[in-house]
Amino acid sequence: MRCLILLGMEKPDRPANVSDAKSSERTRQPEPALGTTEDRKSPHVDIRWLKDIERVLITEQQLARRISEMTQAIQRDFSGREMVVVSVLSGTVMFLADLIRHLNLPMRLDFIGVSSYGAGTESGDLVFTKELRIDVKNRDVLLVDDILDTGKTMSRVLEKLKALRPRKIRTCVLLNKAARRVENVKADYIGFEIPDYFVVGYGLDFAERYRNLPFVGVLHGHVFKEAQKSPYRK
Ligand code: PRP
Repeated sequence: MRCLILLGMEKPDRPANVSDAKSSERTRQPEPALGTTEDRKSPHVDIRWLKDIERVLITEQQLARRISEMTQAIQRDFSGREMVVVSVLSGTVMFLADLIRHLNLPMRLDFIGVSSYGAGTESGDLVFTKELRIDVKNRDVLLVDDILDTGKTMSRVLEKLKALRPRKIRTCVLLNKAARRVENVKADYIGFEIPDYFVVGYGLDFAERYRNLPFVGVLHGHVFKEAQKSPYRK
């Protein structure tokens, strides 16, 4: 769950700080970083979401096109052996579904649960909420997450997976917010480089809400302010 405690004192509505992070070498056709140019031509937000969503950052069409490209790159790298896809709960729900439905390879799927908001702890105090069921020893593993932000989650999950001695392990994220990185971790496959906006939709939440939006959007600052006055109830 991504919420105020994760944000600290960050102002969610501050101007874009366009990341200059390099896309992964494995990302064959990286999308340009999304920043002010794209913002100017961002599509209108559907009236259903106008109250809470400031603008659409990545459209359904952009998501579909990019995920198809990512799938092709993954297929090239994983062909020849059955792979194990390990997906981090819960924000990957939409990305994962679209990614694996186009993955034309033998695969098994498992989930790992890790939360940065366990028992009221602050960001960085990660707790594992679900363990793997599949034995990944000597397997080719693709770790999937929705967003690489500070890198704490991926760093911890990678450490855990590597200890299980897979044959190889690659990482795949839909969104890379390099400006916020505190851990030295990179993803092998990246969908989009994004600025330091608080984004929701397409699986990503604010206090467990907005995961069902079909696009990635920027949350209005007033939603944060209201939540500060009267915390969202789960
Ligand atoms: C979010 C997201 C990533 C993680 C990235 O998970 O899904 O797993 O944060 O942040 P980091 O790079 O700073 O560690 P969250 O704990 O909010 O859970 P959720 O997926 O259930 O929303």
